[in-house]
Amino acid sequence: MADEWNELRGKLEGLEERPTEALAYVREHAQAGDPNSVLATLDDFAVNHGFLINVGPVKGKILEAEVAAAGAEARILELGCYCAYSAILMAKGLEGSGHLTSIESSEISTSAATGILEVAGLTHRVDVVHGTSSDVIPTLEGSFDFVFLDHWKDLYEPDLRAIESAGLLHEGSVVFADNVGPLFGADQYLGYVRSCGHYENRSLQSTVEYTELEDAVEISTYRGA
Ligand SMILES: C[S@@+](CC[C@H](N)C(=O)[O-])C[C@H]1O[C@@H](n2cnc3c(N)ncnc32)[C@H](O)[C@@H]1O
Repeated sequence: MADEWNELRGKLEGLEERPTEALAYVREHAQAGDPNSVLATLDDFAVNHGFLINVGPVKGKILEAEVAAAGAEARILELGCYCAYSAILMAKGLEGSGHLTSIESSEISTSAATGILEVAGLTHRVDVVHGTSSDVIPTLEGSFDFVFLDHWKDLYEPDLRAIESAGLLHEGSVVFADNVGPLFGADQYLGYVRSCGHYENRSLQSTVEYTELEDAVEISTYRGA
């Protein structure tokens, strides 16, 4: 486990400026207006230029299938936008009233994500809200069909409780949590979501983005309060 953690930590060095570099790379190499081309370009950057903490193509397939099951007109909430990889993955199949609100605390990432969504042609489907989840969640209105938790792992449990308290879930809403594998210490979140009685849970094994390291996602369907 220590070796695996060191491998991952090494990849995370220099991460602060990466979204800006990724935006420049996408502008240069991706096909404008083609979300799949933007995703492929971000994958290329992550593998060949600098590690990105995107959900990535492997867990991304699981995420895409779960979002599709929520319907093309789903109302989606994301915590942690970063370079908008998962935002593009979730928004590209939306139609009609389908919409994604993505909360991002980093100014650098908010700006890069907005630029990358412009290249993908998806700014009409996605609002990137700059702020911390704890500040923004209480300002949101209505309910969401699908919630993607992918910010800092110690915030999953308090922020899910805040989402519940703000009335942002309805019976059948799906909460998809990335990075609940052994490297990430998501025990507090898993303990809550599996024992509070409000959710039916599925755990799917996978790998950390762009590596063979063990990871998992937790998919929880809200039963109501
Ligand atoms: C793992 S990345 C998100 C990856 C993105 N969902 C994807 O798959 O393409 C985590 C992001 O969460 C953001 N973040 C961390 N804490 C946050 C908070 N409290 N509120 C909003 N964003 C936060 C970080 O700045 C970072 O960009």
